[in-house]
Amino acid sequence: MSSLPFSISLDLALGGPGAVPRADFAAALKDGAAALAWLREQKKTHAIELLDIVDRTDDIAAAKAVADGWSKDSSDIAVLGIGGSSLGGQALRALAKSGATPRVTFHDNPDPWSWQESLASFDLKTTRFVVISKSGGTAETLFQALTAADAIEKAGGGKWLKHHFVAITEPKKSALTDFADSIGAPKLDHPLGIGGRYSVLSMVGVLPGLLMGLDVSALRTGAKAVVEATLATDGEANGPLAGAALHHALAQAGKLRHTVLWNYADRLATFSGWWRQLWAESLGKDGKGSTPVGAVGPVDQHSQLQLFRDGPNDALYTIVAPDTKGAGLVAPPERAQALGLDYLAGKHMGDLVAAEARATAQTLSRNKRPVRQIRLPKIDETGVGALMMHFMLETILMGRLMQVDPFNQPGVEEGKVLARQFLGEG
Ligand code: PA5
Repeated sequence: MSSLPFSISLDLALGGPGAVPRADFAAALKDGAAALAWLREQKKTHAIELLDIVDRTDDIAAAKAVADGWSKDSSDIAVLGIGGSSLGGQALRALAKSGATPRVTFHDNPDPWSWQESLASFDLKTTRFVVISKSGGTAETLFQALTAADAIEKAGGGKWLKHHFVAITEPKKSALTDFADSIGAPKLDHPLGIGGRYSVLSMVGVLPGLLMGLDVSALRTGAKAVVEATLATDGEANGPLAGAALHHALAQAGKLRHTVLWNYADRLATFSGWWRQLWAESLGKDGKGSTPVGAVGPVDQHSQLQLFRDGPNDALYTIVAPDTKGAGLVAPPERAQALGLDYLAGKHMGDLVAAEARATAQTLSRNKRPVRQIRLPKIDETGVGALMMHFMLETILMGRLMQVDPFNQPGVEEGKVLARQFLGEG
């Protein structure tokens, strides 16, 4: 079993003024043991495709064939998709080198003004569109694809439409597969057994990842290490199980209305967007659930911390801190000292961030808030792939503990059907 690229401390979640009572945590862990046994069974019987995706390589080869062709002669790659068909890619986008070509952008919201602006900004001769929709029938994404094709046609590129599009969707008849077939564009498979918000490690993240120059195999290596560790470990040492148990213990005590993921790096800001959907859509059911809140440090120390420290005590705080010590520019000693800023003199900017992450954890704990700390030494594909799998497994185990199905989304489906109906009414 390979070691994990991050480590978790429950010191401030199970100790100090903010501690979750040990007995409550132990009871939740005990319930969690059954959830873990169930997960092990799912792996044995290959019933959850997510647990097996980490071993696949064939789909990476298929994506590479498209990415290699497109990388050479494209100015822009626009990734169209919404919800689970976009948020994972957006989280990975933060790992790409800035200024890399082609420029990869994500377009999820069908905001009429920004989409029109984006389309107008592209050189339509050299722009390609990755259209992602598991169902192949999502109105927002199809609207974008249709208008993109129309714009290319109007710009005189109708003959070459097939070179401008690739569809990632389930291999079955849908509006999206029909669209791809009608123009002769390639189709790549969205796994049938993986839902949108669990799909980032599948083709949904793999093709955009390759186009952004990422090491997508490393994403899976990191995720695989977490699957293996989770299946092999019992009790408190099992990261996803302990996380689910902490949440469950608080929920049982009526103290979990929110859960906060506080990332101390800009490059993890979009990670929170992905995680929010995962937690909210998987667990907000049957009158149960907790609202996921994203925060970025140190910025949110100057924004949300006041509420988190002194507002209702109804949340678990998870602070993810990369190793920032020694990173970044140095505050010039003489000038800093001349201003009376001795504490900054000669320090790296990353030293300040590291001290602030520590201070935030302590502040919350001292004020009786439970805090879990995750140290992610390096923000790279291995680390982010591992963290993504950690949170997906924690969510699944939490669903088992709460007795809700973490894989369906009846609320989203209802909204889609109603929107179609209202559009028809004019
Ligand atoms: O996680 C989910 O299932 C949803 O958020 C979907 O990802 C979202 O509704 C988009 O659906 P689709 O990929 O079918 O276009």
